[in-house]
Amino acid sequence: MSVLALDAGTTGVTALVVDENGGVLSRGYQEFAQHYPETGGWVEHVPEEIWQAALAACQTALDGTDSVPTCVGITNQRETAVLWNRKRGSAPRRAIVWQDRRTAGICSELREAGHEDRVTEITGLRLDPYFTGTKLTWIRRNDQRSWAGVESGDTVIGTVDSYVISRMTAGARHVTDASNASRTLLYDIHRGTWSQEMCDLLGVPLSVLPEVVPSYGVVGETVPEEFLGLRLPIAGIAGDQQAAMFGQNCYTPGTSKCTYGTGSFVLTNTGDRPVAPEYGLLSTVLWQHPDGRLDYALEGAIFVTGAAVQWLRDGLGLIDSAAQSEGLASSVRDSGGVVFVPALTGLGAPDWDPHARGAIFGITRGTRRAHIARATLDAIAFEVRDVAESMSAVSGTTMPELRVDGGASTNDLLCQIQADQLQVSVARPEVQETTALGAAFLAGLATGVWSSTDELSQTWHLDRRFEPGARDDAAHRRWRTAVERSKGWAEL
Ligand code: G3P
Repeated sequence: MSVLALDAGTTGVTALVVDENGGVLSRGYQEFAQHYPETGGWVEHVPEEIWQAALAACQTALDGTDSVPTCVGITNQRETAVLWNRKRGSAPRRAIVWQDRRTAGICSELREAGHEDRVTEITGLRLDPYFTGTKLTWIRRNDQRSWAGVESGDTVIGTVDSYVISRMTAGARHVTDASNASRTLLYDIHRGTWSQEMCDLLGVPLSVLPEVVPSYGVVGETVPEEFLGLRLPIAGIAGDQQAAMFGQNCYTPGTSKCTYGTGSFVLTNTGDRPVAPEYGLLSTVLWQHPDGRLDYALEGAIFVTGAAVQWLRDGLGLIDSAAQSEGLASSVRDSGGVVFVPALTGLGAPDWDPHARGAIFGITRGTRRAHIARATLDAIAFEVRDVAESMSAVSGTTMPELRVDGGASTNDLLCQIQADQLQVSVARPEVQETTALGAAFLAGLATGVWSSTDELSQTWHLDRRFEPGARDDAAHRRWRTAVERSKGWAEL
């Protein structure tokens, strides 16, 4: 038996076929275009390109194995706002991506009007352009042609999971799961329903939002004419960070993981109750069980980590590949006093400043590209340390270990710096594509491929553990000073 998992990420779609031992039988990957239409930090995707990439990635994965999957699980970049015609599947405009900063002004407006505390109370989130809600407010105010369809009910709204499932089912299902809903600013995480109050505040008609379903359980079937000739039950849905928690077997309160992707997302399972989100953290739904019960997490969402390494490659041409950053950074003892604040799309947790911009401090005539590479890895580790310290401040405890996954977790030097900075052991599993794996686990759990999370835990195997060594607190103090200086730059 095997499961097809689809991870519709920010820069591309990954598909895995996973066997019943949790092993990866085959994979497919297809990138799609990133659109940056204005200088003010706009980022857009063409929904049709996401869908075509999903089809291509799945086809490659299916071609790579003789095993025919029995169900499909979906995971996705979260918060991105997609509009589409439910009957035809066509989109009236590009999607506004989670990284997009255009709604900083709308967020300030709402904050100044005194709404932030209530928003946090209901949604566990904060007023930041990151989340879906204000992106929809922006479309309503600025793209009346697209919004007319929303008002007439022909156009529906959703996140990427919702859009992909609608395409897979030829428009028969307009659903999302509670973990994705909890990232929109429109969902009441306590009651487990869309919030009329938040919909009214942001001017979004509740009637065009998807039905919220549990994170595992059959919610529909793929239509063969639309989806590669396959009729498969769609049995698992979760936002990518929540799916990674599932793939990392973080099923019990206190367990934590960090996924190093475009950004890095640290989540700690807080059990069946949301914890008040202080110190720049978010309180979010982890997953919803088929009986309706919700589990929650505290989350530290850091926007730019792996993307900073990409920028060294594509923006500066300092390295030819992301993997080269490790060798280059290892060639020097430390960053030589250089501090890089990778606030390339503003700052997320724990500082939250959409107006911050990237900065490199401490450059001297002795600075070489190796120091910049080392400062980039240091920055990733410092960002995660800041979030972990916020988590300890909220919970009063230190995380026992941090499980890591995602692209940059293959970087041994980064994992070691991370363990040193956290003073906590860092555990890397054999399968690092944990996001897609989590989607496979959710779908397989719903359809009997696996019987319980205990059984799933047997499939987690350690690749390497990094134990903490001495930590450079002076470097971290310099980092914090540099972060403060990068704030507000875009407003000057
Ligand atoms: O919240 C944003 C997150 O879901 C994006 O993840 O891995 O696609 O960069 P990723």
